[in-house]
Amino acid sequence: MPENVTFTIDGQTLEARPGDTILQAALAAGIYIPYLCYFPNMKPYGACRTCVVETESNGRKMTVASCTANPMPDMVVDTKNEAVSDLRRGVIELLMSEHPHGCLTCHRIELCGPQDVCQRHVDVTDRCTICPKNERCELKDTVRSVELDLRTPLNYNRRDLPIHADDPLYDRDYNLCIVCARCVRVCDEVRGDAALTLVERSGVSLVGTSHGTSLMESGCEFCGACIDVCPTGALVERDYKWEKAKTQVTTVCTNCPVGCEMVAEVNRFDKVIRFRGNVDGPANRGQACFKGKFGYDYPNSKSRLRRAYARQDGVVRDIDLDAAYATAAERLASYASDEVAVIGAPRGSNEDLYAAQKFARVALGTNNVDAGLNIVPELLERIDTRWDGLDTDQSIWDIEDSDSILVVCANPTEAQNVLAVPVKRAARNGSRLVVVDPRETELTRYADVWLRPRFGTEHWLVMGIVRAVVDGAREDAKFIDARVDEFDALKATLWEYDLRRVAQVCGVAVSDIAEAAATLSLGSAMSVLLGTDQPADSDNRRKLVDAVMNLKLVTGSVGGAGNGLYSLYEGGNGAGARLTGCAPLHADTGRIESLCEAWGSTPPDVQGLDVLSIFDAMRGGQVKAAVIFADGLALQEEAYGDVTAALSNLEYLVVASLFDSPITQHADLVFPATAYTEATATATNIEMRVQLLRQAWKPRSDQRTGWQTLTGIAAAMGVEGFNFTDAESVFNELIETVDALSGCSYDYLNTASFLVHRDVATESTRLRFEVFNPDFDKAPGGNDLFLAQGRLLHQPDREITLGQRNHLNVIDRVEEIMMHRDDARKHGISDGEFVKISNADGAPSLAGRANVNGGVSGMVFATTLFAELGTFMEECESPDPAPLVPQLAIRSVKIEATSDLTP
Ligand code: FES
Repeated sequence: MPENVTFTIDGQTLEARPGDTILQAALAAGIYIPYLCYFPNMKPYGACRTCVVETESNGRKMTVASCTANPMPDMVVDTKNEAVSDLRRGVIELLMSEHPHGCLTCHRIELCGPQDVCQRHVDVTDRCTICPKNERCELKDTVRSVELDLRTPLNYNRRDLPIHADDPLYDRDYNLCIVCARCVRVCDEVRGDAALTLVERSGVSLVGTSHGTSLMESGCEFCGACIDVCPTGALVERDYKWEKAKTQVTTVCTNCPVGCEMVAEVNRFDKVIRFRGNVDGPANRGQACFKGKFGYDYPNSKSRLRRAYARQDGVVRDIDLDAAYATAAERLASYASDEVAVIGAPRGSNEDLYAAQKFARVALGTNNVDAGLNIVPELLERIDTRWDGLDTDQSIWDIEDSDSILVVCANPTEAQNVLAVPVKRAARNGSRLVVVDPRETELTRYADVWLRPRFGTEHWLVMGIVRAVVDGAREDAKFIDARVDEFDALKATLWEYDLRRVAQVCGVAVSDIAEAAATLSLGSAMSVLLGTDQPADSDNRRKLVDAVMNLKLVTGSVGGAGNGLYSLYEGGNGAGARLTGCAPLHADTGRIESLCEAWGSTPPDVQGLDVLSIFDAMRGGQVKAAVIFADGLALQEEAYGDVTAALSNLEYLVVASLFDSPITQHADLVFPATAYTEATATATNIEMRVQLLRQAWKPRSDQRTGWQTLTGIAAAMGVEGFNFTDAESVFNELIETVDALSGCSYDYLNTASFLVHRDVATESTRLRFEVFNPDFDKAPGGNDLFLAQGRLLHQPDREITLGQRNHLNVIDRVEEIMMHRDDARKHGISDGEFVKISNADGAPSLAGRANVNGGVSGMVFATTLFAELGTFMEECESPDPAPLVPQLAIRSVKIEATSDLTP
């Protein structure tokens, strides 16, 4: 095992970790060496030479770039002798000959304001004070640190390049670029996108887009990684562009289950003005996504609710909080326990979700409690039941250790974005990738094998892969012998999965199934990313989970790095909901009993409903009253059914919300809710990592957290056990009810995140194959036509045309609609003809030119460009666009020929 290296730097003895460069060892020890092209979590580049140092080893002196050189035992490093300092100053002077630097080299830089008369006659456009990165410019800090001793002014060649302000979300001003290539490298090396590149203009290297001149056509995923690493004002977010931060708060993004640790910059008016990935964040390692990076400022919105209000006979009136608590208490207490339900917010904290389930069970006597985005309950329940949570005990970065990766019915690039980063990196580094998905998604571009099954047949296809593994004698017999029951039963069932029949039903080739099986059996470590994005029925989804788990067992890819099973559920704190018990807990009545025992209450005798069943029961009239926490909740009809019918059928609805919304329209009582900036609280991510969200400013007026609102109502009901004083007191009670949280506390979370220790499958745990017969007769067919719309960052084989809307570039092209010749014939459509697609309810969905290519009958495919999501984030009129980002659900559609493509 490699050992630490001991060496000396500026007279101080240091220990460098194996592989660390001189610069990394110095920075870790608090010794500053100027640098510009280096950035944490990226490979050394060695381009700018700002980091030069002198080294002496075995009597040999050298001048090296400390960001690329590793220390040797007993090496002596000098970072500031005269020769090194001179060299560094020369490098900086050269660099500044192409960067406006009148202010950088002026001793008044800290004193000047934008309106001050400049004694040095620096052009206004060249002054630091009008640069969006003024006061947060890494270049300025670096230049100041080398103490230039200028006797004559430096020459400066202004590039006079146009500023690119015509793409969504951020601006590019290459006049300020120092060509450190951090942006190019993070885009390529870390994100795997290569949307930016080094280009040459009149013999000079510059940064530009890899394709065309716009981010829209370059394959940009608007993750903002390039902005976060840029040391100058060349790349900046457009919103709050010139705003200065007063404080910075480390917090967690709760838009999706990845739980990226972010730094929120807050100005003196208590507005969050920037959001950037924290390089030390364990889950995201400095990365973010288009929703997190650009969808952060909803707490700033002027339309935030500040006062509670009641609606009576259509008339709305403000109501003070105590009266609101009393009203809610009286009305909610009047319903029987099977007539009420509580729905937790997708962005709710652990504390809010814990209080929600306690309130439901203790105050309302019901198990009708669930997280608002738990719309695919089978995904987690099935794995819990069979495997006791093995899915969630792996770091997402362990995916990079996989020999092979299987992605099933999931689109993490859009829904759990940072989780796709290690997948892409692994694929580029030689891991083999198999994708099972009818949609063309970003990960299908990386796939060694892409299986595109007919809608609703995915579980048969995965069982077909299991069959092919066994046919090829590729199963891990040793592992199965030692750990897994029911292998004989599985083999007996697999005879029913004749591969030709599977191929025919699923619409894929036998050879592709065999290739997938061979690919996934190649090594000993296989990660699986399992979603159930397709709206097939509950039985299909349960079988898909079982089939995937059978595949993991048959290949022996269980336990250890690179063998994770990641359930890609919706909602920022879905894992927190499971951890806190904010679920009906059908299969875990023991948990309900132990919770109630801890609270000194009687377990409800009502079999709980999950969130989708709650909406069904609202429509059916069984559930008559509800409490809904709406932060991050977008109730799409395709998942929840007719939402209006459900909510308007309620006799009494209490909603806690940041904004008025289609949900509050039906509410009898509305409480104003806090956002992530206004409360210190915890959340749990997909790795079962508990992290701390920190308060940036105090709530305004009557805004309250979820647990505070419920505490108020419970007190008005006279229910005991809700005497929480702060979030920490809620969390401390939660810890007492969950053994796996033992050792966790707010003090601990202030210094590090906490990985929940689950009693997962160990060497001695017996596992079991789950057997189900194919029942191919239930294969989808008939006249139904399903649209599988995909989205890619980049389609090099297709031309892109750009249009302009509100002075911004937008994608403007005729989409290609791929369809099977049988379907084309049935609908009277010819190859190349314009077609319109509409949803089952007649709403227009997509239009384009038919490509009758003989694909999968019963399905039409279309692939649009990711850039449209950048446009969506820019143009969305809601103050909170992230929960509304259009998803790629497969849906039943109608298609017809048309003479024009006007919607
Ligand atoms: Fe070392 Fe740029 S930081 S060469």
